[in-house]
Amino acid sequence: MSQFERVLTKSWAKPGNRSFAGYKANGGYDALPMALKMQPSEIIDTVKASNLRGRGGAGFPTGMKWSFVPKDSPKPKYLCINADESEPGTFKDRLIIEQEPHSLMEGIAIASYALGVHTCYIYIRGEYLEQAEILEKAIAECYEAGIFGKSVLGSGWALDVYVHRGAGAYICGEETALLNSLEGKKGWPRLKPPFPAVVGLFGSPTVVNNVETINTVPTIIKMGAEKYAALGTPKSGGTRLVCVSGHVNKPGVYEIPMTLTFDELIHGKEWCGGIPGGRKVKAVIPGGSSAPVLHHTELDVAAEYEALKAKDNMAGSGAVVVMDDSTCMVRALWRISKFYAEESCGQCTPCREGTPWMERILRKIEEGQGEHKDLALLKSVVNAIAPYPPIGLGTTICALGDAAALPVHSFVDKFREEFEQHINEHRCPFPHPFGILADEGVRS
Ligand SMILES: Cc1cc2nc3c(=O)[nH]c(=O)nc-3n(C[C@H](O)[C@H](O)[C@H](O)COP(=O)(O)O)c2cc1C
Ligand code: SF4
Repeated sequence: MSQFERVLTKSWAKPGNRSFAGYKANGGYDALPMALKMQPSEIIDTVKASNLRGRGGAGFPTGMKWSFVPKDSPKPKYLCINADESEPGTFKDRLIIEQEPHSLMEGIAIASYALGVHTCYIYIRGEYLEQAEILEKAIAECYEAGIFGKSVLGSGWALDVYVHRGAGAYICGEETALLNSLEGKKGWPRLKPPFPAVVGLFGSPTVVNNVETINTVPTIIKMGAEKYAALGTPKSGGTRLVCVSGHVNKPGVYEIPMTLTFDELIHGKEWCGGIPGGRKVKAVIPGGSSAPVLHHTELDVAAEYEALKAKDNMAGSGAVVVMDDSTCMVRALWRISKFYAEESCGQCTPCREGTPWMERILRKIEEGQGEHKDLALLKSVVNAIAPYPPIGLGTTICALGDAAALPVHSFVDKFREEFEQHINEHRCPFPHPFGILADEGVRS
């Protein structure tokens, strides 16, 4: 693995890389003039051939998404960059903005030209105040350098870019809720179809892409589609960023090859370097809190879209959360369910009613009040939101319902004996020195 070549993060941490001049000195803004010499359809074909998959969660092929935008629409077209990054465990987009905001700017200019877009919005989560300021500064530098404005690098292509700050709602990261929020409405997801590529922002064709997805576009143009695709697997081109948190010696954001397994990522010296105190891994959340949990016997799987899909799992937003053998799985799941109950927008009955119901049952079990019939009840509530497997058969308007259901299905199926132990012993078997729920801000 030592021969692995980083292509997205190779200039990160170089002095001055955040500024326009620093990025340019490190080889930045070479791809934009190359792209402007190409036909827009050639750029879309290049992105298709690169096998780049969306890094926001669903892993949809980016070039294919771009090709759904109607070419002859009389309406203006929009590009929206999804910098909401609210999935618990995810913090890679934040690092991209902090380390190399101009790579995102260059990607925006290339994608806008390819898609026929003159207006781009970057939707950033409310809590990312410093990152919003970094973006504003980078945008101002781009206007000054003629990257944005009336004529991108003198090509005659006009492009305006705006930062829009959200107010801090997880649901506003869902692409149609994001569009409603941008329009000044309540951040509620819309029914699909129609998909945003055809009816999006202000009823116009719109592409919504994640920060990492667009950040990768200059690299693809510079390397060429074939070379970029060859870095990955046949269906997932390139490399990807993962953000590792939890019980590892070296948490952080890593650029990894698509073939790297979770075992290698967690224990490899050049990656996370094992578990503190020499403890054992108990479970891993492979792609953000909405992904099914992996049991420690399942870690010999590549952290990649197709390999995880084959295991009824998902690569999601790249958030890898590692839990060692001191972790209470009931408590971990209860905490995740509490998040979804708080973030449900309330439009669909199964999600609005089911998420708080799940949270209450889990809390009851963690507090030692659980009964065996609670596990069957929990399963029936979760099945009403989204049966599993397979992923993606939910009964709700948006995938927050699936996101809430998948962890519950998988935690209970894979760690059932621990739930039963809580019920049988009428207590949580893990130590809680300050009261069972005290450190969660809940009265015990
Ligand atoms: C509840 C929910 C929250 C989401 N949050 C984000 C987010 O914070 N950032 C993001 O890029 N995608 C998020 N997504 C996925 C987006 O809906 C969309 O698929 C993505 O932005 C498309 O970009 P991509 O094709 O580049 O991955 C979320 C989806 C759901 C259902
Ligand atoms: S699934 Fe939940 S979050 Fe999504 S639209 Fe329905 S109620 Fe809202």
